[in-house]
Amino acid sequence: MSLDKSFDSETEEVINILRPTNFDEFIGQENVKLNLKTAVSASKIRSQPVDHVLLYGPPGLGKTSLAKIVARELGVKLTSTTGPALEKPFDLAAILNSLEQNEILFIDEIHRTPKPVEEILYSAMEDFRLHIVTGQGLFAKTIELNLKPFTLIGATTRTGLLSSPLRDRFGIILRLDYYSDADLCQIILQSAKKLEIEIEDSAAHILASRSRGTPRIANRLLKRASDLALVTGVSLITEKIANDVCSMLQIDENGLDWLDRKVLETLFYNFRGGPAGLSSISASTGEPEDSLEDVVEPFLLQKGLIIRTKKGRCLTEKGKNLVTRSKTLFS
Ligand SMILES: Nc1ncnc2c1ncn2[C@@H]1O[C@H](COP(=O)(O)OP(=O)(O)O)[C@@H](O)[C@H]1O
Ligand SMILES: [Mg+2]
Repeated sequence: MSLDKSFDSETEEVINILRPTNFDEFIGQENVKLNLKTAVSASKIRSQPVDHVLLYGPPGLGKTSLAKIVARELGVKLTSTTGPALEKPFDLAAILNSLEQNEILFIDEIHRTPKPVEEILYSAMEDFRLHIVTGQGLFAKTIELNLKPFTLIGATTRTGLLSSPLRDRFGIILRLDYYSDADLCQIILQSAKKLEIEIEDSAAHILASRSRGTPRIANRLLKRASDLALVTGVSLITEKIANDVCSMLQIDENGLDWLDRKVLETLFYNFRGGPAGLSSISASTGEPEDSLEDVVEPFLLQKGLIIRTKKGRCLTEKGKNLVTRSKTLFS
């Protein structure tokens, strides 16, 4: 079981100076921010913990960052763990029991919490009480414990993955959407400043439009562009560097990466445009079903390149045109 008790103790986090630390640095997602800021202010006025928050959306859109920002704005501690790390009910019980008043417990990938562990959460979230059953049969005993009021922030890629008893216990449920190119451009410029990288505005626009609507990818592209500028012997990321780094990374002018195109081409060539079930697409592309469903599919849906029907995934006209117009991966 892994438990991160302090703010920045994950090694990755210490070096991640790009993670926004307050609402002002957290660009975009205005509605999500408005809801969280209101909850934070109300909690301060009432001197009560924030209602439990569920954040959902594709990876890299800022769920972990928001959990940390909420803790910081409230001036409370944050303990973070993940659903799969909570193997036994006791793992969670021990964490819950050690939480301080109004502390935030962040559970990433909360949909992967084992069922017996999840069941402990119900009364903990609702009445701040722990009910643990120990022993079996005749020897079964229920232990009850009062907990200090706390806030659970859960993160998941899709709310549909959560059981309804768990979902119903969140008072604030917020969806993070893909970012606009304008927001991503602002994120890239902000990150460039933090990393002391020089970049032309037009180059930032190019990188933004190729980032799959995802800040984590935008930051990655910026770092790779900075590498390329360095080895090319220039100190500024120009439009040319931005375009070159995207082709090096096989990201096309539509912002699609290699896997996005592979899925589109598989649908076109192997399934005549669909419908195709997720498992068939997974078998043909060699990509696990959950990453297809969490990462590839939401972006292709949002771009209007595929649709989901009862029978499976189908290419739209736009999707078909894109495949026939572009050079195929398999040729
Ligand atoms: N709204 C935002 N503004 C600025 N940077 C962001 C924003 N959202 C995410 N990022 C950047 O993207 C990275 C990944 O975000 P993260 O919160 O870890 O996403 P998630 O938990 O949803 O996978 C962060 O470290 C940060 O650098
Ligand atoms: Mg995260």
